[in-house]
Amino acid sequence: MGKRFYIETVGCQMNELDSELVIAALLEAGYEYVPRRQDADIILFNTCSVRQHAEDKIYSALGRLKHLKEQKPGKIIGVLGCMAQKDQGLILKRAPHVDLVVGPGQVARLPELLQKLGESGSPIVEVSLDRRGVSQQRVRASFLPLDRKERPSVRVTPYQAYVRVMYGCDKFCTYCVVPRVRGPEQSRSPSEILDEVRQLADQGCLEITLLGQTVNSYHWTEGGKTWRLSDVLAEVHEVEGIRRIKFVTNYPCDMTPDLLQAVRDLPKVCPYLHVPAQSGSNRILQRMKRGYTVEEYREMLAAIRETIPGAAITSDFIVGFCGETEEDFAATVKLVEDTRFKNSFIFKYSPRPGTKAAELWPDDVPEEVKRDRNNELLAIQNRIAEEENRRFVGQVVEVLVEGPSKASGKQRQSDGSLQLTGRTACDRIVVFPGSSDLVGQFVSVKIEAVSAVTLFGHVLAAEAAVS
Ligand code: 5AD
Ligand code: SF4
Repeated sequence: MGKRFYIETVGCQMNELDSELVIAALLEAGYEYVPRRQDADIILFNTCSVRQHAEDKIYSALGRLKHLKEQKPGKIIGVLGCMAQKDQGLILKRAPHVDLVVGPGQVARLPELLQKLGESGSPIVEVSLDRRGVSQQRVRASFLPLDRKERPSVRVTPYQAYVRVMYGCDKFCTYCVVPRVRGPEQSRSPSEILDEVRQLADQGCLEITLLGQTVNSYHWTEGGKTWRLSDVLAEVHEVEGIRRIKFVTNYPCDMTPDLLQAVRDLPKVCPYLHVPAQSGSNRILQRMKRGYTVEEYREMLAAIRETIPGAAITSDFIVGFCGETEEDFAATVKLVEDTRFKNSFIFKYSPRPGTKAAELWPDDVPEEVKRDRNNELLAIQNRIAEEENRRFVGQVVEVLVEGPSKASGKQRQSDGSLQLTGRTACDRIVVFPGSSDLVGQFVSVKIEAVSAVTLFGHVLAAEAAVS
């Protein structure tokens, strides 16, 4: 079996982090990473199950590899992550040329599994235990932690990193497959988190994003003391070298005053809060089992705005959930209009096998209605986002430069500069001309124009000049 591997990642930030950690683990085990699929002996897909569409794309990518496997049977094809946990052996039925199926709670064993595969040659399916019908303790133990190896070179952006503070989810929103595929909620110890942040800071990392499916539900008890997310933020804040701290995704019910005060009082913690509402209708929220009413959600937003004036608040919405009427949708529109989120991710409901919603209610909102509601809500959100962004014209914002902007590719302007992109503390995307040595630096950018999702401007000064 050859040693060159390639990995393709879809889905959320948790998957991006897992892929980065898998790359590091495989490098450590002596494998070589190649950035092009055609150069690889081992082709890995890190997959997502949140919506059907993401799975369809992976199954068709797998289908396209059938021919390659027939021609070159020595190539290894692996399916990792959420879809592996959800579909398990079914993947081998639908794509018999797949060699490896490894759930997110088992990817830490990938080097060992690849070796086993090399020895036996027969397909391997390694997944964690199903949450139903087995003791919670055994289920928990079957989701293994995936640790960061000391390999700074594998990070695409060395000055930014994700740090997981918890695994899994216990909220069981009725539409969501995550609790099933990512397993029970398990917080990591504050000392483990801090060690990781310190290691990253030593490697030159400036921005840390703490990750958890419900990051603000974090809790850890040890020696009679309980740590909540606000305590972890306070400790990470003390790590020298770290300049910005972000955290996603928040669960509305756990947006407690101590957390808001931490964001207010700790200058490195960005005033950017992603707190998905999912719907503006109480009837739908109840069906989704979100655990709050729209009035409670609005109160929570009011508390954020009172404690952290100017905070950027973003949300997720699902349109066309089972039984969603025009009236329910109008309530969502009203919430978006009243709240003026910085931005919202809007999704059409996709029934997920094994979830309560898929078991209990038909997927009865027609596809065209879902599409129309999606477009309508997106248009409203975009109008609001653009109006809000106009406030920035003429202002100077501090940007951490990430790289060449996607839209401009790597094309140079006539004066030799590139179109660069970066983000503000409030997670606003900023595009401006500049040279590539600004990547990884903080710069001051004066904003000249805006769209719904981007601020455009020019650099006033790189950091050394301003502070
Ligand atoms: N259908 C559509 N969107 C979903 N999400 C989660 N499950 C589903 C589903 N079955 C959305 C939610 C969540 C985001 C990550 O994905 O809005 O916040
Ligand atoms: Fe899914 Fe709800 Fe958990 Fe978020 S909180 S991961 S939507 S079950």
